[in-house]
Amino acid sequence: MTVGSSKTIPAFYAGQSIFLTGATGFLGKMLIEKILRSCPDVREIFLLIRTKKELTFNERLEKLLNLPLYDKLREENFSSFEKIVPISGDVSEKELGLSVADRQMLVERVTIIIHTAADVKFNNSLKYAICTNTRATRDICILAQSMKNLKALVYISTAFAHLNKTFIEEKLYPPIADWRKMIEIAEMLDEHTLNIFMVKYLHYVPNTYIFSKNLAENIIQEYSSFLPCAIVRPSVVSPSIDEPIPGWIDNLYGPMGIFVGGAKGILRVGYLNKTTGQDFVPVDIVTKAVLVVIWKLGLTTSTTGSSTFVLNCTSQRLNTYEQDIQMLFDVAKKDIPFEGIVWTPHTILTDSFVQFYILTILLQILPALLIDLVLKFFGRQPMLLQLLRRIYVANCAVGYFSFHNWKYSNVNGLTLMSLIPPENREEFSFEYANFCRRNYLKNSSTGIKQFILHEDVNLLQLDAVKARNKRVYLLVRIIKTIISIGVLWIIYRWIYFYTL
Ligand SMILES: NC(=O)c1ccc[n+]([C@@H]2O[C@H](COP(=O)([O-])OP(=O)(O)OC[C@H]3O[C@@H](n4cnc5c(N)ncnc54)[C@H](OP(=O)(O)O)[C@@H]3O)[C@@H](O)[C@H]2O)c1
Repeated sequence: MTVGSSKTIPAFYAGQSIFLTGATGFLGKMLIEKILRSCPDVREIFLLIRTKKELTFNERLEKLLNLPLYDKLREENFSSFEKIVPISGDVSEKELGLSVADRQMLVERVTIIIHTAADVKFNNSLKYAICTNTRATRDICILAQSMKNLKALVYISTAFAHLNKTFIEEKLYPPIADWRKMIEIAEMLDEHTLNIFMVKYLHYVPNTYIFSKNLAENIIQEYSSFLPCAIVRPSVVSPSIDEPIPGWIDNLYGPMGIFVGGAKGILRVGYLNKTTGQDFVPVDIVTKAVLVVIWKLGLTTSTTGSSTFVLNCTSQRLNTYEQDIQMLFDVAKKDIPFEGIVWTPHTILTDSFVQFYILTILLQILPALLIDLVLKFFGRQPMLLQLLRRIYVANCAVGYFSFHNWKYSNVNGLTLMSLIPPENREEFSFEYANFCRRNYLKNSSTGIKQFILHEDVNLLQLDAVKARNKRVYLLVRIIKTIISIGVLWIIYRWIYFYTL
């Protein structure tokens, strides 16, 4: 494979028709924005969207485009929204659930495919994970094969697809199982029987998500013999660092979920190895990397039997979980306070499951029971126990990743970055090693408050929340003092009683 021409990135995208799956997701939404803003001459973007929660795919698109994420684009190039063509589909269905007419339109017009759709729940049934994440990738490749002018197919995998390696290179590894057989089995067996199967395979991987993504990489590898394919493997995707707004986030993943639970005072104990480095990469960095990979692939003369281009999209500078979470709590106390906190922002991180279990009962379940009872007494809906149950399950799933350390090769990233034409560096460079971590975490906290919790972030309101939170801290201190005095008193009485 050789890069054939030195076309600039926007010039390459001019006139291209892109098919994007996962358009309503964290990464997908960002890709739409970046493509339309930074590659204004793109011809069209087909978005695969499913009907969900009684909203049709058209209604979902309308809702999506009203997000603050698109404010900048709305201001700068409103007419670019006309380039969006929504398409009804569901990747958990055979052949992506596309209608014959839509399929035909895609075959005739699409020149670039970005496949980001995936069910990212760690513990879905094996049947669903394979159909949605593995079979859909095969069906994307089959669709791509019938496209006459395909220039690039990029599959968004995960940096955690090969957990049995400690150093992950930018290459394909042998899959855990045969994807053809697994698809066949998933289609043939009912969910219950397949879950029994899962026990055997989950010996190698922690969950069905990783398993299905691992197989999908192998599909891309096989189809690379006929198609110009690339795989981008992000680690944990985190809020945007800069574009189009710093701190954009629309979903609480892993450590961010733990932080929000802790900052609100709900999550008192986390099951994590606090000394492990956490690998995360801002969503706008991933977006730029994907677009640069496509540009590279599109300008490369591919030959039959070409290998898959792989990019590890990971951070090379790690803080430990403890450092990041402490810094986030510090930000929550001093700069960006959260509303409605029930305790001082603090989470005890432990790598002992027994300790985690006991502290969860003492510091979370018992107080939550009490608060839920009070809520019930006042005729309100009890909700803390249910919320804690979800956090507990999520914490156990995320915990796994903190007990292992992986290192990643970034040679392809460095090479790609050196190929970006100088006039495109500002818009497309995905280098971010010199960022200010505290500033980033401040923006991320603001983003979480604004876009997820829908809290007011204007300065006056922040000051009012800070003052309110100070009263909570004081109350917590008083409660802790009373409990400490109570415990000391009981010990004193106990000693006094037995020494008499
Ligand atoms: N976020 C991360 O930390 C991370 C890390 C590594 C890799 N990745 C990979 O990056 C990609 C994008 O992830 P994300 O963070 O954007 O996840 P996300 O926010 O959960 O979005 C997933 C997208 O896939 C779509 N999807 C799921 N099931 C579907 C179905 N049956 N039919 C049609 N569309 C379906 C979702 O549509 P609905 O809105 O209809 O549900 C949504 O648009 C995924 O492939 C993921 O594996 C993510």
